[in-house]
Amino acid sequence: MDPRVRTLHFPIIHEPRGNLSFIEGDVHIPFDIKRVYYLYDVPGGAMRGGHAHRDLQQVIIALSGSFDVVLDDGKSRDKVSLNRSYYGLYLPNMIWRELENFSSGAVCMVLASERYDEADYIREHADFLALANP
Ligand code: TYD
Repeated sequence: MDPRVRTLHFPIIHEPRGNLSFIEGDVHIPFDIKRVYYLYDVPGGAMRGGHAHRDLQQVIIALSGSFDVVLDDGKSRDKVSLNRSYYGLYLPNMIWRELENFSSGAVCMVLASERYDEADYIREHADFLALANP
């Protein structure tokens, strides 16, 4: 797998009244955050993602519940299970991703390096493979 893909571990403040984690832009995230979006109410068996990005970088966090992220860098595939809100999966550009196996009530929060731009998406896997293996 592309060595740029990595898991980030956010700080945890443990207290008897509950845990608190925090994310500071310049400290914990390797890009300037321009957008935050989140997936929720995902029906059982649904798949999200199914695309790559030409330039966009993202950090994917399971804020609640769990789901799997299937990764493809054009040469190999990997699967990462996210189920803790203090972990973030950093995805650089040009990684095909599929999010699946959402638990009931799962919330997937995504921090993104750019605003939404459909032109940045690669939505056909064959196109992705061609671009990833020039
Ligand atoms: P898409 O990125 O394909 O969803 P996912 O990868 O999570 O399965 O986006 C689904 C729809 O939502 C698509 O019509 C574009 C729109 N959208 C926005 O308008 N803004 C955004 O920030 C995102 C992520 C999606």
